[in-house]
Amino acid sequence: MTKIIAIASGKGGVGKTTTAINLGCALSHFGKDVVVVDGNIATPHIALHLGSVKLESTLNDALLGKKSITNTAYLHPSGLRVIPASIALKDYQQCGLEKLRNVLLDLIGTTEIVLLDIGAGANKETVNALHAADEVLIITTPDTLAVGDAIKTIAIAEEGSIPVMGAVLNRVTNDRGELSQKNVEALLGKPVLGIIPDDHHVRRALTMKQPIVHSHPEAPAAIAYKKLAAFLLGQQYEPFSPSKEDGKEKGVVMQLLEKFGF
Ligand SMILES: Nc1ncnc2c1ncn2[C@@H]1O[C@H](COP(=O)(O)OP(=O)(O)OP(=O)(O)O)[C@@H](O)[C@H]1O
Ligand SMILES: [Mg+2]
Repeated sequence: MTKIIAIASGKGGVGKTTTAINLGCALSHFGKDVVVVDGNIATPHIALHLGSVKLESTLNDALLGKKSITNTAYLHPSGLRVIPASIALKDYQQCGLEKLRNVLLDLIGTTEIVLLDIGAGANKETVNALHAADEVLIITTPDTLAVGDAIKTIAIAEEGSIPVMGAVLNRVTNDRGELSQKNVEALLGKPVLGIIPDDHHVRRALTMKQPIVHSHPEAPAAIAYKKLAAFLLGQQYEPFSPSKEDGKEKGVVMQLLEKFGF
């Protein structure tokens, strides 16, 4: 059964697209079949994050009834399957946003998880995209503005009877001014399911047009996304420490094998 999960926030710029791409990549790492769809039709960023700006087919074609949504999917070199939206203004002005849920329903049975990256705020388009999902994952940074806006997003989802799974705290630095996990959970009335550190590798991956989980798999944010994916799937995840990776702390078995020339 396919599940459509909206990646949502009240405040803009808190890391929804970064999370959609990297959680998608991390869920694929654990063997799940995932498609990331750009449901932020007014200001789409998936193509910009992943470096494919000139596209033959987009979600907009499906919304216009020109193509089936299944014919608008791309395989990114990282192995991630994505359905981008068009960045051209005319494609946005023409397409029928209200058809989003129906168009997404054509993905049912073609994949296990659809991660729907959506716009911020409480405007008509965001509400429509939120209500096109089966469940919602809230992304917020640990500050009062983002959490305050997230409370509204949760209310909008619940008004549409869309269950909110919980929240992901992004760009965590553990500075004293930040809201704690407990505070965020109390304010939102939802559990924090994952904590993603503020990590300079995220910007590097963006420059490389890659999910950080793919380009920098041992970076702190990549490990945190894999932990989040494992948690959502009910699996255990034990990351390798960098020292083990570069061979300074190899296990006894590896050391023995190497000694005997394997
Ligand atoms: N964990 C992180 N560490 C460092 N930088 C991050 C992290 N997460 C996101 N960023 C950076 O923050 C910026 C905004 O991220 P992103 O585009 O994912 O946010 P968004 O919520 O999708 O924004 P919008 O509301 O505009 O769609 C990007 O430059 C991204 O690289
Ligand atoms: Mg975005």
